[in-house]
Amino acid sequence: MIPTKEECLRLMSQYGMLENIAAHSLEVARVALFISTELNKKGQKIDLGLVEAASLLHDLTKTECLRTKEDHAQTGSQVLKGMGYERVGEVVAQHIWLCKEGDSTSISGAACGGSWRFRSSRKNM
Ligand SMILES: [Fe+2]
Repeated sequence: MIPTKEECLRLMSQYGMLENIAAHSLEVARVALFISTELNKKGQKIDLGLVEAASLLHDLTKTECLRTKEDHAQTGSQVLKGMGYERVGEVVAQHIWLCKEGDSTSISGAACGGSWRFRSSRKNM
């Protein structure tokens, strides 16, 4: 199950996302959809709904985490998985740390700590 754009925007508002974070998320969605659409024209089969939802919601809990100092990738993932948005939650879980173990297509948070681990050079993306 993947939330619609309207549902994503409602969640962004419900979670009190700061204006600059919401603007960032909308821009991430615009760029990610452009790249994904172009890749699909070249034969990829990227789920554009998943890309849009994950882009819009990747910082869903960041505003709260600025206060609590929690890992917003993990808390956002937990919130979304709790709503039944499992696939979106998996993408959100890995938007700061990309973990990969075994299956090259796996993006499961359970694989974190595996043999491949990439860290962004930027904090609090
Ligand atoms: Fe982030």
